[in-house]
Amino acid sequence: MAKLDLATATPLRPGWTPAAPLWPVDLTSDPTLRCSFDLLRTKWGEVPFAQFERRMSSDLLRLSDAEVLEKWTSSYAGSSTGSAFSVRGWYQTLYKDAFRGKKILDVGCGLAPDTVLFAEHGANVTFLDIVEPNVRFAERVCRLKGLQNVAFCYMEDLLSLDRLPADYDVIYCCGSFICAPLEASRLEAQALLAHLPVGGRWIELGYPESRWRREGCLPPDRWGEKTDGGAPWMEWHDLEKLEYMLSPARFETVLYLEFHNSDFNWFDLIRRA
Ligand SMILES: C[S@@+](CC[C@H](N)C(=O)[O-])C[C@H]1O[C@@H](n2cnc3c(N)ncnc32)[C@H](O)[C@@H]1O
Repeated sequence: MAKLDLATATPLRPGWTPAAPLWPVDLTSDPTLRCSFDLLRTKWGEVPFAQFERRMSSDLLRLSDAEVLEKWTSSYAGSSTGSAFSVRGWYQTLYKDAFRGKKILDVGCGLAPDTVLFAEHGANVTFLDIVEPNVRFAERVCRLKGLQNVAFCYMEDLLSLDRLPADYDVIYCCGSFICAPLEASRLEAQALLAHLPVGGRWIELGYPESRWRREGCLPPDRWGEKTDGGAPWMEWHDLEKLEYMLSPARFETVLYLEFHNSDFNWFDLIRRA
């Protein structure tokens, strides 16, 4: 696993105030993020379900096979039409064929609304999450759909990444990297980058600064109450923060946009060095 010394990490832009003091975990004594993930695990067993709901993955796992399949299908079938298209459907449409035959690492899969679809369209997907029932739910849906081109990884801490291959084409982080302070996300990104060769893509869905301003500039340890039903941390991302998080690896921007009334932003970056 790549190690990063926070004391010697490249500083972010001048004038930027690190928010980490609000984070209850001392990151210098949490190099594998075990304690930070334990804190995130207190919330993230409850994940997005359909457009406006959230569910405990452990509750969904108690359902019968037929009910699990029905829940996943009814929850996500709507993404391709109506208002849900402008949230998820547009990028599912954009990537589902482009990812055919590609090796995708879904970091923070939750109930895997996008990446099960990508696997159905021929992508080779590894479903990874810091919450084990989330991974087990994705595994169950994949089994019920008869998908063979899939793998699963419960990330207890960053050492769990060591058993993953080093040649992913895409690291796909749909709403997961904004859930922790940038310094913690930087540690995680550095460990993940060992699995993404030059030419690979870093794809991320986040929340933009404009939404944070519109919703009252709440501190990151309170903004999650508004955005995600009580997440312990929520942080806006922009290209500058991603550059900091990913450096010294270098990326170019394939696509950046804010969408759905700037509720979300989308980053599609290609690794150059
Ligand atoms: C907002 S949900 C998004 C779930 C799913 N990707 C989707 O699009 O519906 C955030 C997910 O990221 C996971 N997560 C939170 N912090 C994470 C981190 N630092 N690294 C990896 N996954 C994380 C949570 O367990 C949860 O499943």
